[in-house]
Amino acid sequence: MVNMINRAVVAAFFISNIVLGFVLTETTASDQTPSVIIVGAGMSGISAAKTLSDAGIKDILILEATDRIGGRIHKTNFAGLSVEMGANWVEGVGGSEVNPIWTMAKNLKLKTYHSDYDNLSSNTYKQKGGLYKKSVAQASLDRADEATTFSTNLSLSLSVHRDEDISVLAAQRLSNHVPSTPIDMAVDYYGNDYEFAEPPRVTSLQNTRPLPTFTNYGEDVYFVADPRGYESVVHFVAKQFLTTNNASLITDPRLKLNKVVREIRYSRSGVIVKTEDGSIYRAGYVMVSTSIGVLQTKLINFQPDLPSWKIMAMYQFDMSIYTKIFLKFPYKFWPTGNGTEFFLYAHERRGYYTIWQQLEMEYPGANALLVTVTDDESRRIEQQPDSATKAEIMKVLRDMFGNHIPEATDILVPKWWSNRFFKGTFSNWPIGVSRYEFDQIRAQVGRVYFTGEHTSEHYNGYVHGAYLAGIDSANMMINCIKKKMCKFQNLPKGT
Ligand SMILES: Cc1cc2nc3c(=O)[nH]c(=O)nc-3n(C[C@H](O)[C@H](O)[C@H](O)COP(=O)(O)OP(=O)(O)OC[C@H]3O[C@@H](n4cnc5c(N)ncnc54)[C@H](O)[C@@H]3O)c2cc1C
Ligand SMILES: *[C@@H]1O[C@H](CO)[C@@H](O)[C@H](O)[C@H]1NC(C)=O
Ligand SMILES: *[C@@H]1O[C@H](CO)[C@@H](O)[C@H](O)[C@H]1NC(C)=O
Ligand SMILES: *[C@@H]1O[C@H](CO)[C@@H](O)[C@H](O)[C@H]1NC(C)=O
Ligand SMILES: *[C@@H]1O[C@H](CO)[C@@H](O)[C@H](O)[C@H]1NC(C)=O
Repeated sequence: MVNMINRAVVAAFFISNIVLGFVLTETTASDQTPSVIIVGAGMSGISAAKTLSDAGIKDILILEATDRIGGRIHKTNFAGLSVEMGANWVEGVGGSEVNPIWTMAKNLKLKTYHSDYDNLSSNTYKQKGGLYKKSVAQASLDRADEATTFSTNLSLSLSVHRDEDISVLAAQRLSNHVPSTPIDMAVDYYGNDYEFAEPPRVTSLQNTRPLPTFTNYGEDVYFVADPRGYESVVHFVAKQFLTTNNASLITDPRLKLNKVVREIRYSRSGVIVKTEDGSIYRAGYVMVSTSIGVLQTKLINFQPDLPSWKIMAMYQFDMSIYTKIFLKFPYKFWPTGNGTEFFLYAHERRGYYTIWQQLEMEYPGANALLVTVTDDESRRIEQQPDSATKAEIMKVLRDMFGNHIPEATDILVPKWWSNRFFKGTFSNWPIGVSRYEFDQIRAQVGRVYFTGEHTSEHYNGYVHGAYLAGIDSANMMINCIKKKMCKFQNLPKGT
């Protein structure tokens, strides 16, 4: 139980609890350590908690809505295979700096596979079947690469003022390349939506080109396929400060699962956090790590309301949706071997089952495919029965490979958007949000602090972003608790 700090806090809580209709029995502080409640046990919440713990702030309580830690890093059993419904790749490997998640993956000896997209030109299918000629597909890929280089150059030449930002689509127009044929749209979808899960029309040029993940950590991406799951990186961090039993399960009483936070009351002297099951917890500070999608709903009621600058910043950012559909078949009817892992399907409807991955390397003999959809297609698919999605996919596969192919025996369609604890998959930086407003998303409000991938200074949307954001947000809180430096240091507008 998190203890109260001093009498003043007790008095404040007493008043609040009368309002809540609860009678509080007065307790006294057992020590002078300021206490912290962390909402959410995904990568960022666990990383923040560890950072606090390392700084000697061990009087913490982690409240997690689901029955597990890991959040958006979540393995599941799919027809006997351990697959990732959420994050799958360590992105940003092989560069001048080392991605901290890559270090953890190496440490854990996680099974990872380099993703090689170099041979897409030989693996791009027409809407009605058959491959495009290599030269035709290569020309489309080259044209997209040129437009990307142009856009990156343009982005670097723009000043950081919001009124100078443009969408990725506007940059494409300026480079005289607006993809409009099925193959150009498939290649464009691969280059943009497959990474950001929103179309070029939406995405900010300035804040995604160049992308710090790839410029700092390297261009390589590694697909995690390990029975322990990608989530073992979260367990790896958690076990460095939470007690475990001899079966390596976390038994620390400071982690409480199945605790859905519904209300956060904050005042100058402390915070009161109320969960759906009627429990009430008190602390000096709270660190909220839920996704920006969750923050844009009323799942958590802040009392008093968060200030309007905070709400305006939070509600302008985007929570995108990226759906990884796994399928299993009685036998393989697709090419295997080097340079065949990834293939594209070019349809007149942009983003219609465009990106395919055959998983023979990762799951040999399993006859498994992964197809990715995003954004509006994800919303549509989440609302229909999986049988309807499977029928659509079978039609696409028959168009690509012919009518003789076998029916899929299993399908997995993760539904992140409909889930009230996530409301999507990862943040994407939309046009119209300046760096100044982005920093306001991270800024604390009194004793309420924020973390999560969407608060990462350079790496929003990624596992490493969540990890580093947890450290940064915790350090801001530590500065306040230990050095009384409690004011958020926002850079002046337009710098
Ligand atoms: C489908 C998908 C694919 C992705 N692919 C990649 C990838 O390949 N590579 C990569 O680097 N990143 C990828 N990401 C992004 C990456 O997973 C996230 O950036 C990261 O895991 C987010 O961690 P977080 O701690 O910020 O948030 P979360 O993991 O969302 O953690 C927040 C926690 O808060 C809990 N919570 C929510 N509401 C409440 C409440 N009211 N009370 C208590 N607890 C609450 C949630 O259950 C959750 O556990 C992907 C994500 C998804 C979903
Ligand atoms: C982008 O900038 C680089 C370096 O300044 C230059 O060599 C290249 O030609 C530019 N490319 C485009 C497409 O503008
Ligand atoms: C620890 O391990 C031993 C033997 O493996 C077992 O008998 C015991 O019950 C375990 N204790 C706990 C607390 O899990
Ligand atoms: C596939 O590529 C690997 C690594 O580049 C190589 O060692 C192997 O010989 C290749 N296999 C075939 C069948 O070409
Ligand atoms: C590229 O893909 C084609 C078609 O699947 C395949 O035949 C070829 O071996 C691949 N080339 C390389 C270099 O891997």
